[in-house]
Amino acid sequence: MQINVVDHPLVAHKLTTLRDQRTDSATFRRLADELVTLLAYEATRDVRTESVDLITPVTATTGVRLTHPRPLVVPILRAGLGMLEGMVRLLPTAEVGFLGMIRDEDTLQPSTYTTRMPDDLSGRQVYVLDPMLATGGTLVAGINELIARGADDVTAICLLAAPEGVATMQRELAGAPVQVVTAAVDERLNEQGYIVPGLGDAGDRMYG
Ligand code: PRP
Repeated sequence: MQINVVDHPLVAHKLTTLRDQRTDSATFRRLADELVTLLAYEATRDVRTESVDLITPVTATTGVRLTHPRPLVVPILRAGLGMLEGMVRLLPTAEVGFLGMIRDEDTLQPSTYTTRMPDDLSGRQVYVLDPMLATGGTLVAGINELIARGADDVTAICLLAAPEGVATMQRELAGAPVQVVTAAVDERLNEQGYIVPGLGDAGDRMYG
């Protein structure tokens, strides 16, 4: 498991406005969308391509195109849905699956309430979208489901992460073909399992 914290002034600028409690839902959704596209640029650095021959108006040359099978993009509902458009803008040919997961407010344990994606993910690159990596329970369970279906390269894109969640991912997914791309790793989790300083509950700020 690898972690990639994207160090870019535009990423930091948009994340700062997302953190601000004065940012309304409409602005929050637009900024999250823009931030995902910036993170996705980094997250797709190793997207699989193959060489292709073509002819420009000037001459014959070679370039690259995405390989088949297409990458799969999986937003974790609900809040991950707010990251989908920003991702498929960059990867318009990607297939999209869905994982519906909810974290219990008291126990902080995740449970899955819906799954819609191919049974066989053998040889597929998968991009998982979830704005918050808090305890890590949700992403570990979601990614284990993808690996159980055969995914051999999983990248999670998170707007924000807590060090506790990163440590859990590194422990539970040690040696797995997984990377996390995020805009920041914050200070800690509080007693309610919220990231500090964080940005609050991403799902509520998008859709609440
Ligand atoms: C939030 C968030 C992650 C999860 C992170 O979702 O969007 O999915 O909690 O927590 P963890 O790392 O401790 O597991 P939530 O359960 O609030 O659902 P929602 O997206 O429907 O609001």
